[in-house]
Amino acid sequence: MSWGLQNRLAQIINPETGKTVLLAVDHGYFMGPVSGLEDPAKTVADIIQYCDALSPTKGILHHSIDPNTSTPMILRASGGGSMARQVPIENDATGKTRVIGLEDEVITCTAEEAVALNAAGVTISIYVGTEMQRQSIDNLATMTREAHKYGLPVIGITAVGGELDALRVEGKEAEFAKYLANAARIAVEHGADIVKTYFVGKGHFDKVIGGCPAPIVIAGGKKEPAQQALEFTYMAMQTGAIGVDMGRNIFQSKEPVKMIQAVRDIVHRGDSVDAVMSRYNLKKDD
Ligand code: 5RP
Repeated sequence: MSWGLQNRLAQIINPETGKTVLLAVDHGYFMGPVSGLEDPAKTVADIIQYCDALSPTKGILHHSIDPNTSTPMILRASGGGSMARQVPIENDATGKTRVIGLEDEVITCTAEEAVALNAAGVTISIYVGTEMQRQSIDNLATMTREAHKYGLPVIGITAVGGELDALRVEGKEAEFAKYLANAARIAVEHGADIVKTYFVGKGHFDKVIGGCPAPIVIAGGKKEPAQQALEFTYMAMQTGAIGVDMGRNIFQSKEPVKMIQAVRDIVHRGDSVDAVMSRYNLKKDD
């Protein structure tokens, strides 16, 4: 591993604890101005100090983040899918269409741009099991090839949506875990230095961790009541994750400053959910 790669990884993962709290604020790249992130500068003002690195897009970096910050930046580098749309089915004379959405991504920020922006790393999503599987895995493989020339770490994201998300929503945890374990491993096989995935029920997440030789961080997903978000963070850490790359469960919380501190104490100190809720006076539903 080059010095540059090691040094940037040490900016992302705290060398003392081996853990990390990444604050995700990249949602606008496909969701537009989501609740809590309409004004990204305002969103991060009071919470950036509690994260180990921030995950914005290059646009948000330019417009909303103070260049004097000492917080490392991990730039979202894939995108372009955004809203679902109907496209004609190739070689189909009947004129039938199919729906293509978020999974239709390309590389939107090159390794050179990321280095010029002094990024500590980049993120690329892969959409395993979708029609865009090959294209998105190629995005990851291409980015790792380029990024590693500059000692720039790549976080591979096992993105989910549509039918895959239904597995989670319907509580089919074993199936969802199998999917995430495959996707996480595929991300590593194509060069990811860290894998960002989702927590999946107690007794299932160990399958994801067990098959992934790279460190794993979890996204939070949709906003849940504070206690629930802290519980899955705790369980993910206990199972072997090295941290979170979390967005909505922090910035959409009624108490974002308390919430990120609570998450931080679970991640870096291994504190219990009860301990952090009482330390920061968090309510179950915050
Ligand atoms: C999509 C993403 C999101 O943009 C985001 O970073 C996830 O954060 P959260 O789910 O915690 O709001 O990675 O794949």
